[in-house]
Amino acid sequence: MGNAMALIMAAGEGKRMKSKHPKPLFKLCGKPILEYVMLAAQEACGTKPVLIVGKGHEEIRDAFGDEADYVMQEEQLGTGHAVMMAKDYLEKGSHYTLVLAGDMPFITSNTIKRILETAKKAAAVVLAATMEDPTGYGRAVIRDGCVQKIIEDKDCTDEQKRIKQVNSSVYCFNTEKLLQCLGKLKNNNAQGEYYLTDCIEMLATAGEKVAAVITDAEECVGINDRVQLSDAQRIMAQKINTAHMRDGVTLIAPENTYIDSDVKIGRDTTIYPDVVLEGCTEIGEDCILYPGSRIADSIIGNGVRVQNSVILESKVGDKSTIGPYAYLRPNSNISAGCRIGDFVEIKNSTVGEGSKVPHLSYIGDGSIGKGCNIGCGSIFVNYDGVNKHHTQVEDGVFIGCNTNLIAPVTVGREAYVAAGSTVTDDVPEGALCIARERQVIKEGWTEKIKAMRATKKANT
Ligand code: UD1
Ligand code: CA
Repeated sequence: MGNAMALIMAAGEGKRMKSKHPKPLFKLCGKPILEYVMLAAQEACGTKPVLIVGKGHEEIRDAFGDEADYVMQEEQLGTGHAVMMAKDYLEKGSHYTLVLAGDMPFITSNTIKRILETAKKAAAVVLAATMEDPTGYGRAVIRDGCVQKIIEDKDCTDEQKRIKQVNSSVYCFNTEKLLQCLGKLKNNNAQGEYYLTDCIEMLATAGEKVAAVITDAEECVGINDRVQLSDAQRIMAQKINTAHMRDGVTLIAPENTYIDSDVKIGRDTTIYPDVVLEGCTEIGEDCILYPGSRIADSIIGNGVRVQNSVILESKVGDKSTIGPYAYLRPNSNISAGCRIGDFVEIKNSTVGEGSKVPHLSYIGDGSIGKGCNIGCGSIFVNYDGVNKHHTQVEDGVFIGCNTNLIAPVTVGREAYVAAGSTVTDDVPEGALCIARERQVIKEGWTEKIKAMRATKKANT
């Protein structure tokens, strides 16, 4: 459907959020509320949405850049005023103007398509729903499928408050007619605002057809405060988790599993409770994610097991095991068949195929080749207080326990480093490096101490 422009109102203060940040940027499952609205509108209209911004507009522009056009509403004088600010866009001549609120994340492109379709035979269309508890919403007076007027919650009489049909804040207008109505809006109401909703009554009174499109209550939920935000978070998480289960992922306790909206998960992967998957993370097939793990913006291969670990902006190859209690910091690239064990921290490093870092190590700014064994308590000493340096461990190397590799340093292919070494110079291929003091034995030491103690006691 060409020829329809989407205007999204996102200039409101969001007073009820009690925040320094603009309401549309609050996130549900990792994605700003407004982005859900933008995506649905874009998919249905096929054009870049126009955002009406005001409070916190810099933050909104930073978040979306050129994914949208922006119109400034300096003062937030109501939704009617907000749309008026986009007059220049309206006059550019799209036949239909779709208007949405930036605080309704459950709106779908299919419903918007239904609205656009209905708009062909009406002056305006209002998306409405029946709500068990309509408190806070504008009530829609609908007769024979046509909307007569919308009364804001704060302007309702007690009798009107009992109306359960609500205005969702999604509309499609014949642009020319919308422009005419906007020019006539007044702010003589409980909130002293220019209500966009008054345009509906104006059109209906003038004998124009204002069609109602009805959807379910959930799709019309608008988020005004943090209680509604948490309700919406729960619903969104449930939708996402259900979709993964339908696609072949086992969630042991979906109500305790947090998965961001853009995460991808392969079939036959099992996820235990208390797992958090964030950002653009991709998990392969046949993985097991045990409790207590957080994986953000990372790519995990097939058949990987992760337990009580944090993985950030990193890659893990097929059939590797991570944790318990491992910490992969950004830019760690773990190849296939690796074992990264307990209390291991890795940062900006690569670990070659089949290598093991089983316990209590720090690998920073290093590259480890294939088939290496990095003993317990090994440290890549990467920082001299000024600069970070690289450590190279070539294929097949064996590093003994409690070794310090002082970077920059290279340990050559298949070399061995003795436990407790502090390696400051390169180790050649195939060599054994022992870089520690030789052991000294003093025979009869204990007897000597005992004798000294006895003498001291006798003299006091
Ligand atoms: C609005 C509707 C109400 C509907 C409800 C659905 C009006 C007058 N009321 O009420 O009928 O049931 O949504 O959720 O339209 N905004 C601006 N500039 C402004 C004022 C608001 O851009 O000057 C934006 C807000 O950022 C928000 C949207 O418009 O995204 C709706 O405003 P909000 O204050 O949330 O309206 P509601 O009271 O929820
Ligand atoms: Ca709202």
